[in-house]
Amino acid sequence: MSIQTVAVVGSGFMGSGIAQVCAQSGFHVCLIDIDEQRFARALKSIRWSVEKLVSKGVVADAVDEVLNRISTARDLGAAAEADLVIEAVFEQIALKKEVFAQLQTLCKTEAILASNTSTIPITQLALATKRPGRVIGIHFFGPVPLMKLVEIIPNPQTDEAVTHAVLDFAYALGKNPILVRQDIPGFLMNRIFGAMACEAIRLVECGAGSIEEIDQGMCDGFNMRVGPLCIADLAGLDISLNAVNVMHSLDPEYTPKAPALLERMVSEGHLGAKTGQGFYIWDENGKRHGAAF
Ligand SMILES: NC(=O)c1ccc[n+]([C@@H]2O[C@H](COP(=O)([O-])OP(=O)(O)OC[C@H]3O[C@@H](n4cnc5c(N)ncnc54)[C@H](O)[C@@H]3O)[C@@H](O)[C@H]2O)c1
Repeated sequence: MSIQTVAVVGSGFMGSGIAQVCAQSGFHVCLIDIDEQRFARALKSIRWSVEKLVSKGVVADAVDEVLNRISTARDLGAAAEADLVIEAVFEQIALKKEVFAQLQTLCKTEAILASNTSTIPITQLALATKRPGRVIGIHFFGPVPLMKLVEIIPNPQTDEAVTHAVLDFAYALGKNPILVRQDIPGFLMNRIFGAMACEAIRLVECGAGSIEEIDQGMCDGFNMRVGPLCIADLAGLDISLNAVNVMHSLDPEYTPKAPALLERMVSEGHLGAKTGQGFYIWDENGKRHGAAF
């Protein structure tokens, strides 16, 4: 099974990054979004990123050669001829199910239908289609052009050939894929990170440690480049809260409930780096300053 053409549904932060790494690796990719206004921003950020990677010698092709492999469309029907479709719309179960139900009526029968969901079990999306054997998770980490990790999540009905094709595809993108052997909410990395971040937030909440000392301790003691509170700020506290809530609603016994402090910060609009304040103060260039409290 060979993957030649790719469609990416959703041209936001992740979808645009996924389209970029596909195009950089020689795949023709169609970026699909219902919101046409998203394309200009997506293509601008892709061009900026490819220019940087070309200037550093990481990407050998000319910038325009890479950009010319990317087309855009508002209609999901543009995915009809793709060998692989990667869904990267908002992290909402009902929305993703709807997209998968539509894709299975529009795409060729041998197409692989993949989701970039961070937390939702792939089985739930596979069951929205009549071809669960062709449905799989391909969970990229952001920013996609920089992060090596990709989690590959077959659902129990995924054809083995599909899993192999997707692993080969991830290697072709220059990624280091890991196989998730049980289709559980949050997969591997977000379960581990969610538990760590929730505990760090709870320790701040009860006054057991300061924001900066907890993060510094995780760097010095566990060799992390940045601590969990800083990572949560960079991911967006609203995104982090949503991920914790989805995992906890689907697996309350083994995943933590969101800390009250995290809920309060999100309700007050302190969403991390993107709003200038989360656990830290951030400037408009994305530079971190001191702890916010
Ligand atoms: N942000 C991260 O760091 C990160 C990391 C890994 C995985 N993810 C997952 O990737 C997915 C996308 O996240 P994001 O941060 O790129 O979101 P985003 O908000 O930046 O982009 C989502 C895009 O989907 C589009 N969209 C919504 N409904 C659509 C539809 N029916 N058809 C076509 N397009 C539609 C929106 O217009 C938007 O452009 C989510 O499932 C998220 O959990 C995010």
